[in-house]
Amino acid sequence: MDGRLQVFSGNANPVLAEEIMRFLGAPLGRATIGRFKNGETRVKLDENVRGSDVFVIQSMQAPVNENLMEMLIMLDAVRRSSASRITAVIPYYGYAKQEKKTSGREPISAKLVANLLVTAGADRILTLDLHAPAIEGFFDIPVDHLRAAPLLADYFHNQGLDNVVVVSPDAGGVGRAEDFRIRIGADLAIIAKKRPAADRTEVIEMVGDVAGKTAIIVDDMISTGGTLVEAASTLRERGATTVYVGATHPLLADGAARKLREAGIARTIVTDTVPLREGERDSAIEVISVAPLLAEAIMRIHKGLSISALFS
Ligand code: R5P
Repeated sequence: MDGRLQVFSGNANPVLAEEIMRFLGAPLGRATIGRFKNGETRVKLDENVRGSDVFVIQSMQAPVNENLMEMLIMLDAVRRSSASRITAVIPYYGYAKQEKKTSGREPISAKLVANLLVTAGADRILTLDLHAPAIEGFFDIPVDHLRAAPLLADYFHNQGLDNVVVVSPDAGGVGRAEDFRIRIGADLAIIAKKRPAADRTEVIEMVGDVAGKTAIIVDDMISTGGTLVEAASTLRERGATTVYVGATHPLLADGAARKLREAGIARTIVTDTVPLREGERDSAIEVISVAPLLAEAIMRIHKGLSISALFS
């Protein structure tokens, strides 16, 4: 790619952005990103981007709409400043659970977010563990969809655990759990759950033998923690000796960190796509950084190199 590499970040996850830049060996682009007194988002790029290959980093955790709007306005500013290419780097893609209608008169918000990103100026998307891989198809621009599975699998592999069963906490996560199971060489169990109401889960049934085994529940995100609490309780009822969790996005809404502790989950391993808040860090939650992965992907995209190697 012609044009120099410049990376800007919104306010959603500045620590991750700084860490990515540490791996890239360059400073973040200078920009003023704040609020006008009336609450509107204010963005001003404090350096020239004309002709540059620009990457804008922003996750979309709570406050979701604030973070999304910041991203859109930053993309607009970069586009109007004549960058030659703009990549939206979205470590956590919000609204992804609303990727289809589950009943009449509902929106498909994940598609709306895709439309907004492209309208605002994104030429490419770089993201990680979309809740539903089909969201890639909501874009008609290139999407590089990375996975945290290699990092999480390495972590668990290095723990030297014996007699392991990898558990998908719902039918939608079977592909993710199967990929993880192959990476660490373990058995597979699958839980079927239902959602009697938004943000509530109930286990219907489980397939697979977990008795006497160490269970690792693999999921893309922890929102209210309900899915994991229910899954952990089912696993213990069926005789699992220890329960671990490996999940990419720690949204940890509604006291989820406390619920996981009280559910007796031995350790929860998450990534830093979303920053943990005060009081959520404790010995039962461990964070693995995706900064080296995203930095490598940014460098490869900039140089026009393949990113397939990052999947193994
Ligand atoms: C569901 O389909 C997802 O993969 C997660 O299991 C879910 O979003 C977690 O939500 P919560 O923590 O609120 O149960």
